[in-house]
Amino acid sequence: MKVHLDQVNKSFFKGKDDKLHVLDNIDFEIQEGEFVSLIGPSGCGKSTILKLIAGLDAPSSGEVKVNDAVVKGPGNDRVVVFQEGGLFPWMTVLENVTYGLHLKGSSKQAAHDKAMEGLRMVHLGNFTDAHPHELSGGMKQRVAIARSLVMDPDVLLMDEPFAALDEQTRLVLHKELQHIWAQTGKTILFITHNIREALTLSDRVLLMSTRPGAVKQQYEVQAARPRDPSDSVIVDLEKQVMAELEEEMEKVLKEEFGDDYNLEKSHVRDGDRSDMGSHI
Ligand SMILES: Nc1ncnc2c1ncn2[C@@H]1O[C@H](COP(=O)(O)OP(=O)(O)O)[C@@H](O)[C@H]1O
Ligand SMILES: [Mg+2]
Repeated sequence: MKVHLDQVNKSFFKGKDDKLHVLDNIDFEIQEGEFVSLIGPSGCGKSTILKLIAGLDAPSSGEVKVNDAVVKGPGNDRVVVFQEGGLFPWMTVLENVTYGLHLKGSSKQAAHDKAMEGLRMVHLGNFTDAHPHELSGGMKQRVAIARSLVMDPDVLLMDEPFAALDEQTRLVLHKELQHIWAQTGKTILFITHNIREALTLSDRVLLMSTRPGAVKQQYEVQAARPRDPSDSVIVDLEKQVMAELEEEMEKVLKEEFGDDYNLEKSHVRDGDRSDMGSHI
């Protein structure tokens, strides 16, 4: 299923005469079955783009189209996976995954079978009766992914789904997500502040500029799959993306720190450069 943002602008009203221009003439397509990542400084409008595609908000001008039909609201063809999976704590893993299917009108047996299939895909077939508090962060996100997959959407919208996880868990989930994507052929839009994560998973990475967010640059990732994050194609691209992003980050930091900016600058530059942290 193709997604098209056609000259999309978005502003939020802050007061009577004041508005915040968040998205500036965003225009891109995601092809059916393509895996695209969005990266950019914090506050540049990444989540806003995702919400517009999900139909949870509407553009101020321009159109969001899914398979040439203008998005008017949420639909079963698009589902969102958030950073905090949003599982219902009082339900078991299985109940969490069947919940949406029941809402959709599936029979009890069909919902059960479908949920088991989804849970097996994320290797949680043995945890059906557990409650979310019994699961690790990585397992919770896998349940959230299973819950989305069983709805059989055409487009999976993922907003920093692995941001709260430790590095090891994240690497495992990268493998799982790549496998799921290869098996299901879903169209995926993935938001992350981890450049290597974006490059490891995606066919294409869109880099956004500081607010008002616009697509500043795009990178085709032509590394072989399944991907190895230490592949030289990925490592080389990472340097390019980082250099480009650093420019945007400086603009954000200057705005946030004001006169303290020069003090903070050396600290930021000495940090782990691949994961540029919450500023991205
Ligand atoms: N519903 C809203 N009302 C007002 N301002 C909003 C709303 N949603 C987002 N914003 C503002 O829009 C900007 C972009 O937000 P967001 O899309 O969440 O950025 P990102 O995901 O790139 O960090 C931020 O400055 C944020 O405060
Ligand atoms: Mg966001």
